[in-house]
Amino acid sequence: MDNYEDSLPSSSSPASWSPSSPPTTPEISDDGFEIERLPSPFESRHVSNGSPTFVLVIGGLGYIGSHTVLELLRGGQNVIIVDNLSNSYESVLDNIKLLAANHCKAEGIPVPLIHFHRLDYRSRSMRFLLESYTDLVMTIDAGGQQNMTYRSRIESVIHFAAYKSVVDSLKHPLQYYQNNVCGLVSLLQQLDKYGIHNFIFSSSATVYGTKSNSGRPLQEEDVVHHAEEHVDSAGTSSVLQPSAVGLSCPYARTKYFSEAILADVAAANAAWRIVALRYFNPVGCDPSGLLGENPRGEATNLYPVLTQVLAGVRKSLDVFGTDWATPDGTAIRDFIHVLDVARGHMAAMAWNAACGDGFRAFNLGSGSGTSVLEAVRSLEAAAGRSIPLTWSGRRPGDVGVCVASTERAQNELGWSPRESVAQCAADLWNFVKRRMARDGASEFALQV
Ligand code: UD1
Repeated sequence: MDNYEDSLPSSSSPASWSPSSPPTTPEISDDGFEIERLPSPFESRHVSNGSPTFVLVIGGLGYIGSHTVLELLRGGQNVIIVDNLSNSYESVLDNIKLLAANHCKAEGIPVPLIHFHRLDYRSRSMRFLLESYTDLVMTIDAGGQQNMTYRSRIESVIHFAAYKSVVDSLKHPLQYYQNNVCGLVSLLQQLDKYGIHNFIFSSSATVYGTKSNSGRPLQEEDVVHHAEEHVDSAGTSSVLQPSAVGLSCPYARTKYFSEAILADVAAANAAWRIVALRYFNPVGCDPSGLLGENPRGEATNLYPVLTQVLAGVRKSLDVFGTDWATPDGTAIRDFIHVLDVARGHMAAMAWNAACGDGFRAFNLGSGSGTSVLEAVRSLEAAAGRSIPLTWSGRRPGDVGVCVASTERAQNELGWSPRESVAQCAADLWNFVKRRMARDGASEFALQV
């Protein structure tokens, strides 16, 4: 992990803060990724009270990140993307820009700013990036006294950048802890220095571990990080205690530990407003077919594997587990359209800025369960072709049922999912068709 120098003093001592220079030697991230140097010199800081503000999206070219960036741009927000392209492609940026420009043209509104920085969010370059979006601003206090203070033009950060394969995490636990946990800690230190405290974190239903099998939709109260008082729907009050039950792999533990760290950070400093969004199973894509899920490494999640079967680069889908206690014996998941997930980020960001207070977790799921077999059938209907299946044993670490309660997100964020599993299938098939027509099936083969 990089060690960052503490060269930025608090806003009360601006005179001692001298501009730093970007690093002069090439940087290699811990996983061997060469990091592109930021342009030098950086945008110079300047005295300003009216510069544009931004949302910083770390991992903004990945599957969920790209759809969220598009949603932010459609909503008129200026966006800074930081992405090291370890599991994404720069061409995604062109498609985001195209879709945003089309939307803004149709609406007759100006296209927001979009800045892309290809770098690893753990690299030292992050510090220079944050510095370049910091202004020296003049304020006048109640007594008419003029003061100079530093203010970031980054109003909120959405942090997607993390490794997310259950299988890989079992093989490479240290890489997972390094990126997902150590990287997060360094990032929070950096943001704190620059006075950026509105933070949205990509968490996962994986934090519920084997509580998923409890036979009811998962509520945020099922996993808390500090003792908290809770009154259930029958009016019975209790004190919830922090606990983790049946976390199945290092990946799951990185998400749980990250949430716990965020809750501690928010408890220690009232400036922080932190939301953890616990994703269930995001699937589907933008209806344009220009954005979608196309992992660089081996596909292991259900829909990317189904995509490969549809594209003909994989012969059949291995159905992991046909003996679960579910109506058709296959596992049940809460599949949610990625655009609903993207809208969930917009709602969470607005809620956090307006009434966020400390740390709060929200589920982003559809609230209803679909079996693996039902998911396959919906995709077959959309594609008009059958998908060959191979019945296999259970995959290690899997749970039988995992469905969200959406009550908290609906009540507090005012967010509800809109799209059906059938819509997810239709949009995914449109993405596959378009890509295959343009690039052929190899587009969906293993790419590293
Ligand atoms: C897992 C994690 C989740 C994480 C997500 C992204 C757990 C419990 N869940 O979700 O937190 O965010 O990965 O990486 O750790 N399936 C097949 N054949 C396949 C692939 C999948 O039958 O080739 C089945 C799985 O066994 C499972 C369902 O499809 O029952 C969904 O699997 P997947 O898409 O990998 O997501 P999760 O395991 O639910």
